Amino acid sequence: MTRPAPSGLLGDTAARDYAWKLRLFNAYAEPELRQAIASLHLQPGLRVLDAGCGTGEALGWLADAVGRDGLVLGADLARAHTMAARAVAPADALVIQANLAQLPLARASIDLVWSVNTINHLHDPVAGLQGLAALLRPGGRIALGQSSLLPDMYFAWDARLERLVNEAVRQYYRDRYQVSERGLADVRALAGRLRQAGLRNVTARTFMIERLAPLARADEDYLLEVIFRGTWGERLRPYLPTDDYEELARLCDPDQPGYALRRPDFHFLQSFTLVVGGI
Ligand SMILES: C[S@@+](CC[C@H](N)C(=O)[O-])C[C@H]1O[C@@H](n2cnc3c(N)ncnc32)[C@H](O)[C@@H]1O
Repeated sequence: MTRPAPSGLLGDTAARDYAWKLRLFNAYAEPELRQAIASLHLQPGLRVLDAGCGTGEALGWLADAVGRDGLVLGADLARAHTMAARAVAPADALVIQANLAQLPLARASIDLVWSVNTINHLHDPVAGLQGLAALLRPGGRIALGQSSLLPDMYFAWDARLERLVNEAVRQYYRDRYQVSERGLADVRALAGRLRQAGLRNVTARTFMIERLAPLARADEDYLLEVIFRGTWGERLRPYLPTDDYEELARLCDPDQPGYALRRPDFHFLQSFTLVVGGI
């Protein structure tokens, strides 16, 4: 069977399914994502599109902001993600499975496009943003959220290991997706991308996701399952000196006495940046 061609830089297809990661991320970052939504001061009655809605957690948060007279739509390429989103979305929210490049929505029908950790998945983010901007009503805005534009702090007690791990992750991504470090850094260019796409009055605000030991369940689940096991783990072995890999493996193993997430000095920082532009 031939695999469908990825529609995006990071290998997304209609058949790809990483719903488990998205659910864990949204449960962990919910307080800061809600703060970011609150910072937009959405008026009741607005029509909002979550572009690349993933598993749909934000649909309910956006619906809370626009109230019963508002309208919330979610769109995502992946069948599994849209199915998951439909399962959690408020009853009057509409979730469609579609490519952001060809959304079946009328021009000038949306007041806010909300899009988190998605624009850098597109082959041509500026064209994608221009298409989304065409959906906006006069006075409409696009809000792009992106996690980790700053280096994250994972190991407060060991900056060297953190640096080596970040470098190893970059090398892994380069090999897996053939994306150069410059290509990966494109994710940082959100403000520039919005301006290139013709949006105006671009603003940016960064929220810090900060967690200290002892961790809540949602925080431990995300860090262990998505970062330690899902992003790092065995795949980093080829990119780290043996001693450093073994140290990392001990820190990431809940059965080891030195497990990072139960250290009393565990202190974690991750940035979440919201860049907003209008037409
Ligand atoms: C990293 S996830 C972020 C999902 C969600 N916004 C969140 O923050 O949990 C990126 C999402 O974009 C979707 N996606 C990627 N390329 C797409 C495209 N061309 N059109 C629509 N959705 C796309 C993926 O299926 C995935 O659900």
